[in-house]
Amino acid sequence: MTRPLWIKHASQLATLLSTQKGPRTKEAMSELGIIEDGSLWIEDGIVKAVGTTEELEKQFSGRIPEAEIYDASGYLVTPGLVDPHTHVVYGGSREREFEMRLEGATYMEIMNAGGGIHATAQMTREATEEELIRQTTKRLDSFLEHGVTTVEGKSGYGMDLETEIKQLRVMKKLREQHPIDLVPTFMGAHAVPSEYKGREDEFVEYIIDEMLPIVAREKLAEFNDVFCEKGVYTPEQSERILEAGKRYGLTPKIHADEIEPYGGAELAAKVGAISAEHLLKASDEGVKMMAEAGVIACLLPATALYLREEAAKGRKMIDAGVPVAISTDCNPGSSPTTSMPLVMNLACISMRLTPAEALTAATYNAACAIQRVDKVGSLEVGKQADIVLWDVKDYRELQYLFGVNHVKAVWKKGVQVVN
Ligand code: NIG
Ligand code: FE
Repeated sequence: MTRPLWIKHASQLATLLSTQKGPRTKEAMSELGIIEDGSLWIEDGIVKAVGTTEELEKQFSGRIPEAEIYDASGYLVTPGLVDPHTHVVYGGSREREFEMRLEGATYMEIMNAGGGIHATAQMTREATEEELIRQTTKRLDSFLEHGVTTVEGKSGYGMDLETEIKQLRVMKKLREQHPIDLVPTFMGAHAVPSEYKGREDEFVEYIIDEMLPIVAREKLAEFNDVFCEKGVYTPEQSERILEAGKRYGLTPKIHADEIEPYGGAELAAKVGAISAEHLLKASDEGVKMMAEAGVIACLLPATALYLREEAAKGRKMIDAGVPVAISTDCNPGSSPTTSMPLVMNLACISMRLTPAEALTAATYNAACAIQRVDKVGSLEVGKQADIVLWDVKDYRELQYLFGVNHVKAVWKKGVQVVN
């Protein structure tokens, strides 16, 4: 039995409690459930009570001497941030492509010339499992230092059975070794491997007949993602892969309408995807269909900035009733960052989310997008004690004082992992 932990006197405790059930939409995205002079009582890694310091003082009066006390006076407390979309397991790096893009090359030109995802696939195929664990651990440590306690991770830098499985196994091992909860997604359809150029449908069949059954049998993934984009996978091919995944119990996600409008948002609604990602060029009709079907828009403003593209229309999507989550998209090509605080800043600056909406998008809605909202994404009795203490007094300062890491301390399942 570990000692109870009592975090008290937070200037603001943003619990993220709201009356709306399920992914938050419209006004509910602004409900942060703020408690002034807030307090949390934690036992065995679980939140046992939430309230004002005065309330918890009364409730636990007989047990205060046994508790470890953390005085959060002057600090903001929030749930641990959740990053619902990353490609965090990869070999090598691509700084030369960054230069090439600044010199005028486009993301797709580089990829079609054998660089981009293909270059990382080559380096990931060559890396040993140990090397991938070492590189990914560094990135996960950085996520924690930026207040992120749950991270989704995709395969997709193999596009051959062996490397896809290697990436997913690395995630499984890291789940046991690292404090961060790493949620696995299979993304065999991340690009068309050069061996299959011109024979795309054959690779689609290969994914469906050979890869998905093994991923499912070994329980290596919970989600199935596809890069549905002109020149990569058509909506029809994407649908086949996602429907096949559903038969194996994998929930669909889609990289949709990133570079060109291509019916990705519409497809997300049609197949009942839990989320559609990117959506820079999503059509109005697609956005409407997502709102009706309750598909979460997982928006990636750091990727848009890094590719020097206009960000997705986050404001418009929220107003249209789409639940919005945000993410780093951490990957070596289009968004080599682990900073969710920066992503929240950009959600406000480039997509006109309010500071409250940005925090909801990075916690509660992000947890919904990876089906973890029963455990994380808000500070409620019975949920995991994944907590961030920020060196600001008011939640709006997190976005107002931008480009700065305000993290002061982080607890994962009640254990302090950053101090
Ligand atoms: O989400 N768009 C496709 N996939 C990644 C980029 C991967 C890479 O460039 O290595 C993304 O942006
Ligand atoms: Fe991505």
